Amino acid sequence: MRTMIGLAPGSTPGSPARDTAPDRPERAHRAAVRLEPRHLDSCLHNRTSAFGTAPETESERIERQLADGELWGLVDGDTVLAQARLVPTFHRLGGRPVPCLGLAGVAVPPEQRRHGYAATLVRDVTVLGAVEGFGASVLYPATTAFYRALGWEHAGTRSRYRVLTRAATTRGPTMRLADRPTDWAALQRCRERSVADVAGTAVRPPDRWQQLADARYRYALDDPEQPGELRAYALVDHEHEPTDWQFRLRLRDWAATDRGGLDAVVALVGQSDSIARAAVFVDTTPARWSAVLPEQELEIAGQLHWMARGLDLPAAIGARGFPAGLALAVTLQVEDEPALEEVVPSGPWRLEVAGGEGRLVDVPGADVRLAPQAVGPLITGFRSASDLRMLGLVRGPSDSLELLDAAFAGSSPSMIDFF
Ligand SMILES: CC(C)(COP(=O)(O)OP(=O)(O)OC[C@H]1O[C@@H](n2cnc3c(N)ncnc32)[C@H](O)[C@@H]1OP(=O)(O)O)[C@@H](O)C(=O)NCCC(=O)NCCS
Repeated sequence: MRTMIGLAPGSTPGSPARDTAPDRPERAHRAAVRLEPRHLDSCLHNRTSAFGTAPETESERIERQLADGELWGLVDGDTVLAQARLVPTFHRLGGRPVPCLGLAGVAVPPEQRRHGYAATLVRDVTVLGAVEGFGASVLYPATTAFYRALGWEHAGTRSRYRVLTRAATTRGPTMRLADRPTDWAALQRCRERSVADVAGTAVRPPDRWQQLADARYRYALDDPEQPGELRAYALVDHEHEPTDWQFRLRLRDWAATDRGGLDAVVALVGQSDSIARAAVFVDTTPARWSAVLPEQELEIAGQLHWMARGLDLPAAIGARGFPAGLALAVTLQVEDEPALEEVVPSGPWRLEVAGGEGRLVDVPGADVRLAPQAVGPLITGFRSASDLRMLGLVRGPSDSLELLDAAFAGSSPSMIDFF
């Protein structure tokens, strides 16, 4: 797993372009620093007053995040004016892991708002991520408008589904209890295989597995062709309404590497139909479950868009996969905001795709011009270049845009985990 190499405690990303920007208020010129244990009280106040969470639950979490060096902020002495949690993760694009910088917990307390602190912090994080070689930044937005103004755009979905157990009539093999010492590791391998080709999914970090370890029931389906490996698993909790004799199955996590494995997970739900009324779970968009259920009984219980922004685009293109057998070249350039253009790579480049790989080569000029908001949805495959042109985020000749569409085509990008 990537670490924040070079982001030494107390270091600043440095943003020369921002320092020369003439028309920002003086107090927004602060540079982000990695927060330290002495900032705990201020961080706790910001987090609880911004997100409405309880100090009892947040305190330990923030202490750990400070110790792990995940929290960055704009500070005035021990007071944190704006803070954010940086989560380096790999996300799969074109079947390959791309180093991404997750951004979470951006918080400014109510008494410090509308001074430009959050925007300054997020711009600093953009510079930091680009300088560190992260291909893109991803986040779940509580406000789209704020991040959109800073270059992020919707780039994929996270969908929660609900199905009545009586509608899950699929026949499938019966899963066993996953209670063997080797099961937990096998289950993790099963999960990574099952999402290997799902654009957007994160290579799951160990702390996410720790959060899932307390699921009440673990079920598994062995792979007869690969001893020690699983075709499917489900981590299940039971949720009771106070006045209800029935319960709801909550699939905290599940995975299947083939159709038989998926049939087994769906059948696990269907076979609970006498007492469990419904099941809720997260799946890709479109849901793989909908190809298995006999009728259109799957409801979307909740759907979020996640956003992405290009950072070090040559790194992203070099890391992600492209369709094997496709060979093309197209020139492009990102028109980022002037304050960032000097530090966030923007081209012009020639995108060269061949043999399942891509690279960006410096060139003197480009046919295709991308607004920064076009980069996230383009490289995840969430929107076609033609769609982005219609939205006013891309300019360029149609034949060049068709080449971009071919290069970035793939499954609809979906995240499974929330961070
Ligand atoms: C959202 C939040 C971080 C903004 O902090 P802030 O320091 O007040 O923001 P800034 O002053 O840097 O705002 C920059 C621009 O973003 C926009 N903006 C700010 N807050 C916004 C909001 N809640 N919704 C939409 N746009 C917003 C404004 O248009 C502002 O531009 P303007 O000054 O030209 O009007 C802060 O309100 C907060 O902590 N909210 C609760 C937690 C939250 O929602 N965090 C985001 C989690 S993903």
